[in-house]
Amino acid sequence: MNNSAVKHIPVLTETLAEQISLPPDGVMVDATIGHGSHSLLFGQTLGPEGAIIGLDVYENAIRRAQSSLKNLVCKVILLHCNFSKITEQVHNEGIERVDFILADLGICSAQLADEKMGLSFQADMPLDMRIDKRLKTTAADIVNTTDEKSLADLIYKFGQDRASRRIARFIVRHRQSQPITTTGQLAEIVCEALRQPKQKRKSRIHPATRTFQALRIAVNNELENLEKLLASAPGLLNRNGQIAVISFHSLEDRLVKNNFKQNEKEGIYRIITKKPIVPTQEEIERNRRARSAKLRIAQRK
Ligand SMILES: C[S@@+](CC[C@H](N)C(=O)[O-])C[C@H]1O[C@@H](n2cnc3c(N)ncnc32)[C@H](O)[C@@H]1O
Repeated sequence: MNNSAVKHIPVLTETLAEQISLPPDGVMVDATIGHGSHSLLFGQTLGPEGAIIGLDVYENAIRRAQSSLKNLVCKVILLHCNFSKITEQVHNEGIERVDFILADLGICSAQLADEKMGLSFQADMPLDMRIDKRLKTTAADIVNTTDEKSLADLIYKFGQDRASRRIARFIVRHRQSQPITTTGQLAEIVCEALRQPKQKRKSRIHPATRTFQALRIAVNNELENLEKLLASAPGLLNRNGQIAVISFHSLEDRLVKNNFKQNEKEGIYRIITKKPIVPTQEEIERNRRARSAKLRIAQRK
């Protein structure tokens, strides 16, 4: 599939626009610039004194965002880097504090369709999963070299799959005859372990969803990166500045919820969203990716 043709529909856009307003000279960090769709929305409200600093670990995202944001009058700085390093990246640009930090976690539809990413169980791709190609360890390295117990623990911890032991056993058994090198092979092994032929599943969720989620989180250090971003935000936000995080699974959402609560307890944040904001049924019908999205917002005191 030509992934440049895959359209990314940003989630919770209207809600974000209702909740967040930036002054014309505001500075925002889009920690996950992606296609730049969210940034375009906020960028249109910024004047020449305003700025957007966009970060992404996916090289193509930087190119795409450059094109989507080219007509904005505000300053646009796009950096191919991990949001775990947000503070040093912003300071390197000569900016001390910002008014808004947005993180729309996870991946874009184009990344799922990109063969080089090796993220999809819907197509047969090399089993890679590194969103940032500068990382060393691929998903294939993990499934072919990790011992059975550690593999089961990883699938349980990051995928929350109760059948993790059985899946790990099947993976280890298969790799004894030949290495697992593609997403299709891995998806089949998981289906076999769960005795769910690909064509005849009852649940609407593919049986390999959780195993793939677990490997993606492990390969890209996703939870560790999010913890670092959340820990950096208070030091970077101006007074009354806001942080908005859109997460797509409970492990991420729990980290955001606990971080905001702790900061509120310490008098650093005021939580704007007592409960996470979720998309309307109408948005979910328009965009299936939105179905598990949760938005939380906090304000720096
Ligand atoms: C859901 S997309 C963002 C879409 C974007 N909000 C838009 O409107 O187009 C998530 C993006 O975050 C990037 N990403 C994931 N983890 C990252 C990290 N630790 N640091 C920087 N970018 C990351 C992915 O490469 C992907 O492009």
